[in-house]
Amino acid sequence: MDEYGFRLLRERIKRDTNFNAPCYEEKHLKRRLAVRMRALNISTYQEYLGFLSNKNEEYHRLLRALTINVTKFFRDPTTYDAIYKLVFPKITSSKKHIRIWSSGCSDGKEPYSLAMLLLDFLGDKVVDHTPVIYASDIDDEMLRKAKRGVYSKNEVEGLDSRYLLRYFEKYPDGYRLKKKVRDIVRFQHRDLISDPMPKCIDLILCRNVVIYFAKNVKEKIYLNFYNALNPGGFLVLGKTETLLGRAREMFKLFNNVERIYAK
Ligand SMILES: C[S@@+](CC[C@H](N)C(=O)[O-])C[C@H]1O[C@@H](n2cnc3c(N)ncnc32)[C@H](O)[C@@H]1O
Repeated sequence: MDEYGFRLLRERIKRDTNFNAPCYEEKHLKRRLAVRMRALNISTYQEYLGFLSNKNEEYHRLLRALTINVTKFFRDPTTYDAIYKLVFPKITSSKKHIRIWSSGCSDGKEPYSLAMLLLDFLGDKVVDHTPVIYASDIDDEMLRKAKRGVYSKNEVEGLDSRYLLRYFEKYPDGYRLKKKVRDIVRFQHRDLISDPMPKCIDLILCRNVVIYFAKNVKEKIYLNFYNALNPGGFLVLGKTETLLGRAREMFKLFNNVERIYAK
């Protein structure tokens, strides 16, 4: 298909939105563009470019198609088991402030799952550790929902009833995370590709996010994660990713099944 048109379109998306299209895999971009173009019955990138220029709301739809927001509470439960049993004991072994970062947090289910898990783990000791969970994404619509902390009945389906009883309260349109959970999670807009990373982190989760990034971009992000962590800190990539590039030699493999790495 028209390669020139594709490159033009990729640059235009970067220029007109905050979406760093040239840093994503070409295959992914083309697949997602095809979804929008099919819906509009448009067959060339150039034609789609013309359409985008005239219709601002199409940018919104395109961004929705490009950022895949699928997530759920305690997604991949064995990863959370490993964090609870193997990682939390290590990062809480001294009485210190704990800083966790859920990078690419979508609508907040990942950082809130971590928050509930950590509150369970710490019990009364939460005051000694004053935990903060930073949670970031590039999708402002998802971040707005995350900050509100309200989820529908469908979204909490399958969640262990113990968590539902202990950490949620009924809300007119579903369930809301209690204040004690919301208080330790701080949402922020942050682009993993272009924004500076937070510092002095004890545990980073980056799951199902960099999957569509170009290889050289992933390698750079992994190095940045290394620098963002405290000595002895952990990086959890989850089942879909494995470390690449120089970071592979710098991190120690801590748990192969869950792809957990230690600094
Ligand atoms: C599939 S969700 C994963 C959510 C969660 N980590 C999980 O595993 O359930 C991927 C998220 O990554 C976000 N994302 C994509 N590109 C990003 C970037 N450059 N910087 C930060 N977040 C990004 C998307 O907006 C989306 O919300």
